[in-house]
Amino acid sequence: MDQNVEHEVVSMPRIGDAAPEFKAVTTQGNINFPADYKGSWVILFSHPADFTPVCTSEFMTFATMEDQFANANCKLVGLSIDGLYSHIAWLRTIKEKIEYKGMKDVEVNFPLIEDITMNVAKKYGMIQPNEDTTKAVRAVFFIDPKGIIRAIIYYPLSLGRNFDELYRVVLALKTADEFGVATPADWRPGDDVIIGPAGSCSGAKDRMEDSELDCKDWFFCTKKLDKNKVLDKILKK
Ligand code: BEZ
Repeated sequence: MDQNVEHEVVSMPRIGDAAPEFKAVTTQGNINFPADYKGSWVILFSHPADFTPVCTSEFMTFATMEDQFANANCKLVGLSIDGLYSHIAWLRTIKEKIEYKGMKDVEVNFPLIEDITMNVAKKYGMIQPNEDTTKAVRAVFFIDPKGIIRAIIYYPLSLGRNFDELYRVVLALKTADEFGVATPADWRPGDDVIIGPAGSCSGAKDRMEDSELDCKDWFFCTKKLDKNKVLDKILKK
């Protein structure tokens, strides 16, 4: 790759921004994004190309987990810079021919956007020219029910995503919203959560004396948050 080639400057959406709007053709019909997804969490993700092995393994994994994400009120929307007929042919091949890690007969029921014009990919900073000028990187945008981008993860072309981590991110964001807490490294439902920073000296003193908190120091306090209480709140059933 030539690092010295000049590339068009693109703006990339950031955490906290409203998700850029677009209309697109997908394998499940036309969509108006993010308006059609109001009230749901949505993961908008890109992949480099149809009929490629890493992408195929990812689509099979995501499709197999679709119900799990739906139970967390989270919809999936994929994108690559390929046409609709390529998408359809690839998804049919996956269903009819591909068996991988015990997954077979996998039907991808979430929409896959055709983006030959790169209109959407450019809006979302999915083309990273020093990685590839015509293939989208593996971008993942977590968008909340109000259409706000809450987390973004990018992976290069060669690296398949960890879908357990993507699910964990959705659960952690929902838990933060529902319970007003933060989540520490590697948090999973049932683990202790972190309470917000003390806003005053007396607040710092109070928390050190609060028997319901486990304070490593005044700035680092955790509390128990029951797993069932979390799951009752953030999952449908
Ligand atoms: C893949 O999905 O296998 C892939 C796509 C583009 C570059 C490298 C790998």
